Amino acid sequence: MATRVISTQPHRRRCICVRDYLYLLVSTKKGLLMEIVRLSQRARRIAREHGVAALLVRTWRFCHDALGSTFCFERVYVCRFGLADLDSWPRPSLDDGFTTRFIASNEDADHLADRGYEDPRDSFLRMRASLDTGAVALCAYRGTTLAHIGWVARTPVQKSRFDDVPYPVDFGWEEACLGSVFTFPEYRGKGLAPYSMRLRLEYLRSVGCHACLVAIGMDNQSSLRAITRVGPLTRRAALHVKLPGINYMRYIGLVEPVEQSSVGRGDSSAQVERLDGTPAIN
Ligand SMILES: CC(C)(COP(=O)(O)OP(=O)(O)OC[C@H]1O[C@@H](n2cnc3c(N)ncnc32)[C@H](O)[C@@H]1OP(=O)(O)O)[C@@H](O)C(=O)NCCC(=O)NCCS
Repeated sequence: MATRVISTQPHRRRCICVRDYLYLLVSTKKGLLMEIVRLSQRARRIAREHGVAALLVRTWRFCHDALGSTFCFERVYVCRFGLADLDSWPRPSLDDGFTTRFIASNEDADHLADRGYEDPRDSFLRMRASLDTGAVALCAYRGTTLAHIGWVARTPVQKSRFDDVPYPVDFGWEEACLGSVFTFPEYRGKGLAPYSMRLRLEYLRSVGCHACLVAIGMDNQSSLRAITRVGPLTRRAALHVKLPGINYMRYIGLVEPVEQSSVGRGDSSAQVERLDGTPAIN
């Protein structure tokens, strides 16, 4: 199976973060060495499978993304779902033929790969380290091909793996956050993002969380539309600035309630083969 290598983290946060490499450098030389070996293996594979031109393009994107994760000036909405009434929200629908899996550890991912599913760690470079922190990913597949991924964090360390907007989350008071949503282009517009968010909210509620936050860029219309399909929420505009050594966020708007929009596309959820239900691979 051809590996689809993407250079961006599954949302506007970047896949390769300069901070992470500095951290690797000072914290563990072995980790850095392993990362360099992994990157060079990937580079060789891209050159072999897609040609030198593709390797150059991806190397450029890699450098561009590394810079993008270090410098940032953006307006975001910090959205908040209260989970108490989750059962009363209409479930977003999804086109047929997708299956979903929670991946809670690298062992889960190994297990999935052993069973012939595309290994998401081949496409998302930082996933292995993110899973090591205990962050949980929800993956959607069509057949054995990865179509979508979205993350859940229940601690600050887990959040820092995929979301550097420093909005406050009261993790100690059973709040959590979502992030790093990515649908591969060929599967967009089929309802995967709202469906995946709903499943992740159900998971969070099942482990005792009562609220969940997520930051979305104000110019990310697809994502903003997707999130309103999930359920009623409140959102607050904020300004996020990131420079080397500085990661700053300030609210610039008041809290606004947002109603759930039409779940659309007909209710096909009954035909979706749901293989999840627990955060572990079954
Ligand atoms: C944002 C994103 C996750 C939405 O995923 P999705 O699974 O396509 O979500 P949906 O199916 O609900 O589609 C959301 C909207 O995007 C639109 N859309 C965007 N690109 C599309 C495409 N290539 N084909 C069809 N629809 C597309 C859809 O029309 C839909 O709008 P509608 O509900 O009003 O029709 C996806 O576009 C993506 O991965 N973007 C890049 C990463 C990113 O921005 N992540 C979010 C960061 S917070």
